[in-house]
Amino acid sequence: ADFFAAPKPLAGKKVVVTAGPTRERIDPVRFLTNFSSGKMGYAMAEAAAQMGAETILISGPVSLPVPNGVTRISVESAADMLESVKLHFDDADMVIKTAAVADYRPIAVHPQKMKKQEGGSTIELERTVDILHYLGGQKTHQLLIGFAAETNDVAKYAKDKLQRKNADYIIANDVSEAQAGFESDTNRVTVYGKGGFEQSFEMMPKAELARQLLAMIHEQEERHDR
Ligand code: CTP
Ligand code: CA
Repeated sequence: ADFFAAPKPLAGKKVVVTAGPTRERIDPVRFLTNFSSGKMGYAMAEAAAQMGAETILISGPVSLPVPNGVTRISVESAADMLESVKLHFDDADMVIKTAAVADYRPIAVHPQKMKKQEGGSTIELERTVDILHYLGGQKTHQLLIGFAAETNDVAKYAKDKLQRKNADYIIANDVSEAQAGFESDTNRVTVYGKGGFEQSFEMMPKAELARQLLAMIHEQEERHDR
């Protein structure tokens, strides 16, 4: 045994993390997506594994290596991500929804490449399933942690998501802020929890922030003996 090994407070727990953007196909060569880099989600998965959890990382398309000790499942669309999360939900202890899931997808996926026409064009969209909201309705013992990326009224929108999705915690960040956005290696967040819990973290590297977030959540849950 390594004398200097880090404590493993999540040993015996199964943690499911979703990360990255989703891709919603328009035709065989085009899709809708967003600027998520996956960095925060991968950092959360790495921190969970370091803390001893069996860690499943359900990832949209990103160009990041699989963190040590983590099992990655690659998915493309919001529908794929939902299907994969469902498979791992029942025996999960904690689900961390870091992914920037597309809210809309094209109603029809064109089987062939769309050819340009004279004049403009419209793509008709429909809503995807809100995975976190779905899990909030299904959860039995699982701790549900969502993220909220906002450009304005962060506290108001984050608290609203906590309620609406029946999450245990929402980790909110202001993506309009320099060095706290999708591509950044650093982030600054405020965590909102049930019963008015609120805690802000300093700007720091995503890897360190992920460790502090998981340690804080673990400590809160131990305190409330759940
Ligand atoms: N989320 C999800 N499935 C979706 C959309 C969002 O599971 N189809 C999850 C995200 O992974 C995140 C949380 O919900 O953990 C909040 O995502 P966000 O985009 O900030 O909120 P929305 O509810 O989609 O609201 P809006 O985009 O309008 O702010
Ligand atoms: Ca959204």
